[in-house]
Amino acid sequence: MAKAIVVTEKGASGRLLDIDEEEFFENTGGEHPVDLDVLYSSLNFKDGLALLGRPGVIREWPLVPGIDIVGRVTASASPRFEAGDLVVLNGDGIGEHRNGGFATKARVRPDALLHLPGGVSPAQAAAIGTAGFTAMLAVLALQDNGVTPESGEVLVTGAAGGVGSVAIALLAGRGYSVVASTGRVEEQGDYLRGLGAARVVDRGALGEPGRPLQSQAWAGAIDSVGSHTLANVLAQTSYGGTVVACGLAQGGDLPATVMPFILRSVTLTGANSVEAPLALRQRAWADLAAELDLAVLDSMTTTIGLHEVLDAAERILAGQVRGRTAVDLSL
Ligand SMILES: NC(=O)c1ccc[n+]([C@@H]2O[C@H](COP(=O)([O-])OP(=O)(O)OC[C@H]3O[C@@H](n4cnc5c(N)ncnc54)[C@H](OP(=O)(O)O)[C@@H]3O)[C@@H](O)[C@H]2O)c1
Repeated sequence: MAKAIVVTEKGASGRLLDIDEEEFFENTGGEHPVDLDVLYSSLNFKDGLALLGRPGVIREWPLVPGIDIVGRVTASASPRFEAGDLVVLNGDGIGEHRNGGFATKARVRPDALLHLPGGVSPAQAAAIGTAGFTAMLAVLALQDNGVTPESGEVLVTGAAGGVGSVAIALLAGRGYSVVASTGRVEEQGDYLRGLGAARVVDRGALGEPGRPLQSQAWAGAIDSVGSHTLANVLAQTSYGGTVVACGLAQGGDLPATVMPFILRSVTLTGANSVEAPLALRQRAWADLAAELDLAVLDSMTTTIGLHEVLDAAERILAGQVRGRTAVDLSL
């Protein structure tokens, strides 16, 4: 038997249940299933939506939510893995239409499964999770589009959230001058400067409708907020700059004009953690292992047990969670 949070039907919230894993996972894992003891999962904004029955994340029921798994292989039909291997899986449909990480056992397909990179413990891999992986994808997108530390200031929106916190730490580690935009300046200003932000600004004005072109302020930006915020960020990006859209905490709309593109050669690109190909996953995790200051990672991480996940889901959707939340399956 395994302990699992299960969402049994459309619109329902998750419930902590005992499941017979052989029966529950009978048709999962594809042609080369890999069985795991789950050591850790993590809580992301998307997990909050899934756990509370909000539309748009889970597409098959019943399902174990949880878009991150850090585990130890117990059996493998894939030649890439053997019993005892420590592995990490972010996205690839888990927690959406494949069973995910909020359970003590998992059966996954190997396509996006990675060996844990050297130097990263299971707890640290969970603290990084999808949010940290996405932050690194966004940093790589800035790098690949030619935004360097010498280009000018880089803005991070949704700064005190999971993607934002890791993005600040990674950018600061690479020598960028990072400006953190948050709705919690008073409460989280010191925290954000501790992660490496050079300046902290209030998100208020960015979230309101703005002019199509504004003063040029940013060489690049990582945005996990969307909507008016992303439109204003584009309008404030300097000539030739790049903005990476990764999220929709404010909204999935983009009420912008073409002006930043046709008058300032701004590039708008995206980061997607779910479908990222294996080679990009390997590149991002190798860079995370090499660059992320583990003391800084610790300072942004709270660890909870499976029984605390549903309460934490309410808090992450209410914008009350700071940084990253790791879920320890042994608690
Ligand atoms: N593309 C991908 O593959 C991918 C991967 C991971 C996450 N995401 C998306 O990225 C976003 C952030 O994810 P996360 O896990 O980092 O979530 P999170 O920890 O909840 O962080 C989101 C942050 O956004 C800000 N925020 C919340 N509501 C807002 C609003 N109404 N207006 C403006 N800002 C608001 C808050 O930051 P402050 O308190 O600092 O203002 C909050 O901490 C989500 O939309 C998520 O779905 C996408």
